[in-house]
Amino acid sequence: MSAAATSVEKHFARRLPKIELHAHLTGSISRACLHAIWRAKKAQDAAFDVEDPLVAIPSDKVDYDLETFFPLFSSYIYKLCSDLPSIEYSTKAVLQDFQADGVVYLELRTTPRAIPDKAITKDDYVKTVLSILNAWNYDATNTLRAYLILSVDRRNTIAQAEEVVDLCIKYRPAGVVGIDLCGDPAKGDVRSFTNTFTRAKAAGLKMTLHFAEAKVSATDLELKTLLSWRPDRLGHVIHVKEEYCKIIERENIGVELCLSCNVHARMITGTYSDHHFGMWRHKNVPVALSTDDVGVFCSPLSVEYELAVKHFSLSPAEVCKLCEGVVGSIFAGENEKDRLRKIYAEWDGWMG
Ligand code: IMP
Ligand code: ZN
Repeated sequence: MSAAATSVEKHFARRLPKIELHAHLTGSISRACLHAIWRAKKAQDAAFDVEDPLVAIPSDKVDYDLETFFPLFSSYIYKLCSDLPSIEYSTKAVLQDFQADGVVYLELRTTPRAIPDKAITKDDYVKTVLSILNAWNYDATNTLRAYLILSVDRRNTIAQAEEVVDLCIKYRPAGVVGIDLCGDPAKGDVRSFTNTFTRAKAAGLKMTLHFAEAKVSATDLELKTLLSWRPDRLGHVIHVKEEYCKIIERENIGVELCLSCNVHARMITGTYSDHHFGMWRHKNVPVALSTDDVGVFCSPLSVEYELAVKHFSLSPAEVCKLCEGVVGSIFAGENEKDRLRKIYAEWDGWMG
């Protein structure tokens, strides 16, 4: 691959209007933004006892695996984003980062989080994030539109998961478009959530689930249970036997695939060219390239498209087909789908 060819791919991927469907809010906060929050807190209170993000998460470190990744949130980032101003500030920064990367439609997902020592409830948290998203969408100068998915964490109790469904339903008119199941794949028994996710589906919520992300969460029992909830989309879809691939295809379930995250976290064997994107792109389902946690793995969506173009020799026409397929699997309504179809129809970059 010549340097010139690489720069053509980079330019194409940067300019391409992109749709991001799998991005965790807290995992999408850049190190620079975390550092700014840390600096402000330190200036306010010299005794603020949390390490500088530039030291705790060195800028070139992206090799977080399933063992080191989840504690990064519970024992570090949540201690920085620990009040409403830092949640507002970081949410705004995440929107700015996605927009600057050429993303035109974003479904951000987050796990409702209470912060008892600041008297912040999960309802307050969701309301705060939504207020930032709605102010953003209201500003006609922004080219990105953002919506929210609320996540149930695998470690949640049934009551906590039910609360997430209640919040999804309550805040649907304000921009919540769906529900997700996320968290450490080694934890929890998904069967305990069957009634909860069935209620979410019955209420008309769209559903995406982290699916076969690790071997431990890819047992027949787990995958059958998750598919019985009738999800609209699935994230990662790594350790999946042919029989499940067939069901996913038959039901036309969209797949959200995260190249860099899977490579850096060693969730797949091999490297980019070995990624199961190479298999799914030939199946008849929507395939959404996604970042998962750009703040941790430092690969923005434009780079994910660039990598896909480079390692799978995608032509502009193939990228166009991919993007048009993704439009059909977004969780927002027809107005958004029409806006995105128009963006792709009018884009001047398909001819190179
Ligand atoms: P938040 O939900 O906005 O706080 O984003 C961070 C949370 O997302 C983490 O604590 C995890 O529970 C979840 N998360 C982020 N990336 C992944 C992933 O790849 N698999 C499962 N859960 C994830
Ligand atoms: Zn994820």
